[in-house]
Amino acid sequence: MHLAETGDLVLKPMIIETGKKNNKNILNYIFGAGSISELGSILERTSTNKDRSAIYIVDQFFEANLESLGKLPISGRDVTTYVNTENEPTTDYVNGLIESFLTDRTEEPFAVIGIGGGATLDVAKAISNLLTNGGHAEDYQGWDLVRIPGIYKIGIPTISGTGAEATRTCVMTHPPTGIKLGMNSDHTVFDQIILDPNLTKTVPLDQYFYTGMDAYIHCAEALNGHYRNAVGDALSSQVIKLCREVFLSDDMRSDENREKLMVASYLGGCAVATTYVGVLHPFSAGLSVVLGIHHGLANCIAMTAMGEFYPREVEEFWRMVQKQNVHIPRGVCEGLDRKQHDLLYESTIIHEKPLINALGDRFKSILTKSKVKNIFKSM
Ligand SMILES: [Fe+2]
Repeated sequence: MHLAETGDLVLKPMIIETGKKNNKNILNYIFGAGSISELGSILERTSTNKDRSAIYIVDQFFEANLESLGKLPISGRDVTTYVNTENEPTTDYVNGLIESFLTDRTEEPFAVIGIGGGATLDVAKAISNLLTNGGHAEDYQGWDLVRIPGIYKIGIPTISGTGAEATRTCVMTHPPTGIKLGMNSDHTVFDQIILDPNLTKTVPLDQYFYTGMDAYIHCAEALNGHYRNAVGDALSSQVIKLCREVFLSDDMRSDENREKLMVASYLGGCAVATTYVGVLHPFSAGLSVVLGIHHGLANCIAMTAMGEFYPREVEEFWRMVQKQNVHIPRGVCEGLDRKQHDLLYESTIIHEKPLINALGDRFKSILTKSKVKNIFKSM
């Protein structure tokens, strides 16, 4: 679908006439330990109609122990769906969820509440948009294709780093094309987020590091790009500072460090919304699409091969890895066949905006097919 085909609504373009981005922030946020207990009063303020239902989209990690999140205001009318986060979200998966919601009930929910990591938050954003806009998830993959606001959406991250709580996108892979792309739209931004650092207490050590590094990497890439701006730079510099404090400390998961990383994740999402990422994320996307490696870990693996582009960051990354004693798998692209390398190349090079941000318009002459292959092989 093209912009001109989206009906009679005037879409607010992301790039305004001066070439600057027109940025949208989260409308409301609460930050602090225990703040998830405010969810009930937020929902009450959102709808005075006591008979309306909400949809809870929750990471499957909490299926066996939902009570570990505290007392959630889930009523008998509400629907709770656990998101399979073993694989990254696909358009088919989101379409399947929408179909089951539409089959099970006729009335529109008044709120969609996403509780979990980046993948779960992205699924919640996509569901909210699709319930009002209709059609399929893949119809809205791209820029500014979502026509009207989604259902009131609330995001509650339970792991820090992706910045999904702050961004105007929700990333999904479309299986027929293999394209990993989000619904980039102002309508994708959460109306409310709840940032409660108590919720990240149970995240396993390696996962905490892999996902947390996403915030560091977003901002390192932004600061090394061509499309810099003063707001993005200020946010990114603060994120890098917070990540250094967390990942070079003795206990990256202390109460104070979990607070810091949650702030870094949120600010990193805001920072990257004002600009673009760089070379690393396209390579990471290749690993996710072709080998099914999760985003945080794929980033860390891609980082090991980024010496040419981000030498200082690679050196600092290894110091953090050593300090926290986490495992970074090596040799993941050894023994791949030609077809797999072709796919890796295609799913990397397709990310033009970040690659132009990092390398300029002629990025394809720098990232030749054989060079891309060698970079993957060195991971
Ligand atoms: Fe990322």
